[in-house]
Amino acid sequence: MPNQIPPTFFFGGDYNPEQWSREVWQEDVRLMREANVNLVSLGIFSWANLEVADGDYRFEWLDEIIDLLHKNGIGVDLATATASPPAWLTTAHPEILPMTAAGVRQNHGGRQNYCISSPIYKAKAVALVAQLAKRYSKHPAVKMWHVNNEYGCHNPRCFCDVSAVAWREWLRAKYIDLAELNKAWGTDFWSQRYHEWNQILPPRETPAGTYPNPSMVLDFHRFSNEQILDLFKAERDEIRRHDSVNPITTNFMSLRHAWLIDYWMWAKEVDFVSTDHYLIAQDPENYIDLAFQADLTRGFAGGNPWLLMEHSTGAVNWQEHNLPKANGEMIANSLSHIARGSNGAMFFQWRQSVSGSEKFHSAMVPHAGTDTRIWRDVVKLGQHVSSLVDLGGSPTDQAQVAMVFDYDSWWAMSQRNLPSTSQEYWKLPYDWYRALWQLGIRVDFVSPDATAEDLANYRAVMMPNVYLLSDQQEQQFIDYSINGGSLFVSYFTGISDRSDTVKLGGYGGRLVRETLGVQVSEFAPLNNDVIVQLDSGLKAFEWAQFATARADNASSKFENGVAAGQVAISKTSGNPNWYVGTRLDEESTKQFFSNAMHELGIDRAGGDGVEVIRRGGVRFEIDNINKTVSWR
Ligand code: GAL
Repeated sequence: MPNQIPPTFFFGGDYNPEQWSREVWQEDVRLMREANVNLVSLGIFSWANLEVADGDYRFEWLDEIIDLLHKNGIGVDLATATASPPAWLTTAHPEILPMTAAGVRQNHGGRQNYCISSPIYKAKAVALVAQLAKRYSKHPAVKMWHVNNEYGCHNPRCFCDVSAVAWREWLRAKYIDLAELNKAWGTDFWSQRYHEWNQILPPRETPAGTYPNPSMVLDFHRFSNEQILDLFKAERDEIRRHDSVNPITTNFMSLRHAWLIDYWMWAKEVDFVSTDHYLIAQDPENYIDLAFQADLTRGFAGGNPWLLMEHSTGAVNWQEHNLPKANGEMIANSLSHIARGSNGAMFFQWRQSVSGSEKFHSAMVPHAGTDTRIWRDVVKLGQHVSSLVDLGGSPTDQAQVAMVFDYDSWWAMSQRNLPSTSQEYWKLPYDWYRALWQLGIRVDFVSPDATAEDLANYRAVMMPNVYLLSDQQEQQFIDYSINGGSLFVSYFTGISDRSDTVKLGGYGGRLVRETLGVQVSEFAPLNNDVIVQLDSGLKAFEWAQFATARADNASSKFENGVAAGQVAISKTSGNPNWYVGTRLDEESTKQFFSNAMHELGIDRAGGDGVEVIRRGGVRFEIDNINKTVSWR
């Protein structure tokens, strides 16, 4: 039952009242009212204060603060408080602490310190959730549930013996027959064939310079993702037993850097999608990164509204140099998320902590108090958000271009022993997205499981580095093109099937050979700093290859390097589809897409730092250079 987001706008942030006195609570609610705060995420890291010893629950303080918030008209996004197990639990059960691939048990003292396969952790978490859900599900302040926090952020995998048992169970359920597993993983390589299920271990560290079987690692990522999802489902289902009304979400991290959770799969399990986003302060074009990730989140939400659960008012505390935001930047960031479908803007966190490792992370109420530019902007933003509340039921207008984003390809490409160590999954999708962004062309993201029918809504579909494609997935893209859509397929797309077994007979499978009319026979990755010239005038780096194209294709070729004379870019005749067999530099990517988008008649709006986005009849214009936003 996805996407039951309330059709309204939320403004507020993570609230950690246990760090503060009762006097401060009074000031908090007064200031929240002043800033138009209507929702706080409460109790995310409160387990140690809610259950002080096994089964010894202390809810009085939570009762008090929820009542106080309610009296002041502030809603609660109630967290299940399970993100960090308390010391009494890890002391009694040190075996719930996660283990690294090198076999090192991690310690208590940070956060998210649990093994994702631990039945003990799961049982204790669900027991706490049961108490919370029973006690608060009917409280009028509670507007939604916030399960755990950023699942998979610090402990996405565990390599301990308990995890090994769960892993083997998962494999047995997937393959049934050990012979099928041996086939899928290609275990005749390096004497890896398994003759008994219990011979299979998690992909733990192997002798230096050797790596675990890549198909196994890919499956281990899938297993870990599903183990974590099972934790979410256990909490969600427990809440549902007591509360059939309030929507349940968990905050994703749809960052291109947070990669071990398959949010396409997760989005089907939450009532609505919510996510966290933090700017990379040093990146001078970090607003493009923001746009990419907000658009990706809207993709997970199936185009429906979603909620920005956390972002920052200013500097974070975990980058190399924690730069503040420029004047106007926070408001521009928040409104860019809103234009892209967020039903409001939430922050980490309400009041800046005085202790702990996040004390130098910005907040809505800074250390210096309310006579500050941050507080003044918070108040101003609160007014903007409440003035936009009518947009709560309206999605962002659909784009004409879709881009495939694929976690399995990312997981397979994150391994060693690819043709080049320069290859990283997200780089090419980001290059292409950035060029389209600069041209003022909006992008929607779709899953690799999109059907030809889903894709038919788009004039063009981008397939950058979709390394793994099953025959069934491939067919959908082929059909999309047959039905008149235009594909943009990059090198290193369609190379292997979903077990990471290479498809023979020319790289890229039927999609590249038949639909694109390109025969790729050998990769020719480039050394760092080598630039190759194309006969069309475009410049490229990192990747070349030996390829030929059908005679009726319009092709451009590499002019220099070992692959000189080979096809670099090729366009089919008739209904055009493009094959891009190299990594174009920034200017060339822009030029290439500018021409191709013109040929397809795709609309452009804004560009050069200014974005124009429409949602529910409102036209947002975000000037990312001057950090100003207007809407009408
Ligand atoms: C998020 C996390 C918050 C806080 C924030 C700081 O990843 O959910 O609890 O740590 O980062 O940027």
